[in-house]
Amino acid sequence: MASFQIIVGSMMGGSEYVAEACEEIIIAKGHQATINFQPDFSHLIQQITQKDQIWLIVTSTHGAGDYPDNIQNFVTDLGSYDQDLSSITFLMIGLGDSNYDTFCHAAKKIEKILISKNCKTKNKILILDMSLDIDPEALAQTWITQVIDHL
Ligand SMILES: Cc1cc2nc3c(=O)[nH]c(=O)nc-3n(C[C@H](O)[C@H](O)[C@H](O)COP(=O)(O)O)c2cc1C
Repeated sequence: MASFQIIVGSMMGGSEYVAEACEEIIIAKGHQATINFQPDFSHLIQQITQKDQIWLIVTSTHGAGDYPDNIQNFVTDLGSYDQDLSSITFLMIGLGDSNYDTFCHAAKKIEKILISKNCKTKNKILILDMSLDIDPEALAQTWITQVIDHL
């Protein structure tokens, strides 16, 4: 059984719904999941001593390629953390609007920071383009089901 820390960056709730849809699948598959709507980096770092800890980051982009307010401190603390984070496996879901030049920049920037800290991932980022007529929760559930089935 794996333990997922779901880390949410959201201004208007869309990423929260996607995170909750993923949580539903993770639990149905027999794993543990905790959703962090106000992610606290130091708290999350304390959890990684547990075996098979996976960070699932679900974040939108706001402003012009900016992070949602609620995840800003987490990203700042992550960026300034000077120890190796190779024990962390992460998954990334980005919500955005492809009409912006800065399409899903927040998720892509966090992904780069995690890789620079030696965090591991086996899966490509899931990009959800909210300018299209999509069901983001259903797409995320299909994706997380496939990811979990290949853990
Ligand atoms: C003021 C504003 C700025 C936005 N800026 C971006 C952006 O730079 N890049 C992008 O991909 N999407 C951008 N978006 C689209 C949001 O990321 C998208 O609507 C997303 O679904 C919001 O998710 P949330 O409800 O979790 O915040 C912006 C939306 C708003 C309202």
